[in-house]
Amino acid sequence: MRYFGRKTAAYYERMHNALLPTTIEDFRPVIKNAKGVWVTDVDGNNFLDFTSQVGIVVDHVSEDVVSAVQEQTTRALGIISNDFQFASVHSKGSLLGEEVSPVKLAEELIKLTPVPYPKKVLFEVSGATAINAAIKICRASQPKKEFFAAFERAFHGRHGPSLDISSSRQIHKLLHREGMLAVRIPFPGENVSFVDYKKSFLNALRSDLEGDVKNNLNALFVEIVQGEGGINIPNLKALNWLHRQVKSIGALFVVDEVQTGLGRTGKMFASEYLDDQPDMIVLSKALGAGVPIGAVVTRTDILPNGTIPQSAHSGTMPACPLAVAAALANLHFMQDEDLVHRSAEMGKYLRSGLMRLADSYPFIVDVDSLGGLMIRVEFDSKQMADTVVIGCLGQDPGLLLIEAGDKTIRFMPPLTVSKEEIDLALSIVDNVFKTLV
Ligand SMILES: Cc1ncc(COP(=O)(O)O)c(C=O)c1O
Repeated sequence: MRYFGRKTAAYYERMHNALLPTTIEDFRPVIKNAKGVWVTDVDGNNFLDFTSQVGIVVDHVSEDVVSAVQEQTTRALGIISNDFQFASVHSKGSLLGEEVSPVKLAEELIKLTPVPYPKKVLFEVSGATAINAAIKICRASQPKKEFFAAFERAFHGRHGPSLDISSSRQIHKLLHREGMLAVRIPFPGENVSFVDYKKSFLNALRSDLEGDVKNNLNALFVEIVQGEGGINIPNLKALNWLHRQVKSIGALFVVDEVQTGLGRTGKMFASEYLDDQPDMIVLSKALGAGVPIGAVVTRTDILPNGTIPQSAHSGTMPACPLAVAAALANLHFMQDEDLVHRSAEMGKYLRSGLMRLADSYPFIVDVDSLGGLMIRVEFDSKQMADTVVIGCLGQDPGLLLIEAGDKTIRFMPPLTVSKEEIDLALSIVDNVFKTLV
């Protein structure tokens, strides 16, 4: 294949010798440089990145983020903000004259997030660790309620056992339970009628949430658009009804915006599509623009004395200086470039282009989105979806796409994508589709 050049092949050979396997597969380009919506591989091939690296990227290597990170490296770098706070002041770039500190970033997130006041922020390093922190906050809020609910096909992370094997400080275990009582409930998908969803949820209530479980349900964790599960779009009426049900039994409603947050769905947060604000929002991916950070923004009036116990949660790297500088610059950049509005507009443009293609190619089963640049394109088989992903890599220029669920490709370009770049991406997929009829 064209993209599988000599340098790429040599790199993958070393990779197979040096790295244990993860989800990486060796048919993808090895990226050397990235800028805007484009990436270049080690063999010099160019690709439009319509994955945004699964939602991390608002804009590849934006000048604002780069200058903030560069300046932060000269001010304070190796600070454990859970033990020593830092507050640097930048002398240039988009953060000129501004304080760069965990407090400043928390204040920005408090202003931006649709979580009711009073609220506070707890930082983490990734999506999964932020979800774990959110679970601890739920336990602090309702210590006696042991059950946690999540949707079928939910994805909230891959970590957990490190605290099981720790024992140095019991305070760290205060909000932790080994093993978790998880309850699975159906996702209120867009193709489910509201009446049917009510029935299926009440059935799940009868089978799972009966008696003790119903009275002991601590929280429901929600992806408003399911990412890894297949870019599943909610029926908002059913989701709002579910929110009210969960509230009425005294459980918390926690929205995992690790993939949907920061403009991805055409609003700053997908939670803005809900009638009522959630109790907590969990963020990661796009927040740090490529520098790892996670955050939980939580109502504090759900907590005893409005807080969690001192030292019950901590860590070495949450809100490290580089991540805080990157996140503050990224938020500035998004506001300056009006990227939420742009995501909504470009999302409509891309979706209608994909719908036009769906009219011509029978193997496309569905094109859909809640809004913005997180669009599902479902194929009639997994094999067809795989063939399209690989076919798009082989074009010149190529197009990076990534699958979700069983037979869906997600179209998630950086929020700075232009109409011309969307047209080019559509012509690349059209070329590939033509070879498949
Ligand atoms: C909705 C959602 N929650 C949590 C996670 C886990 O995040 P991380 O991979 O940073 O641990 C992901 C990652 O894809 C995600 O999409």
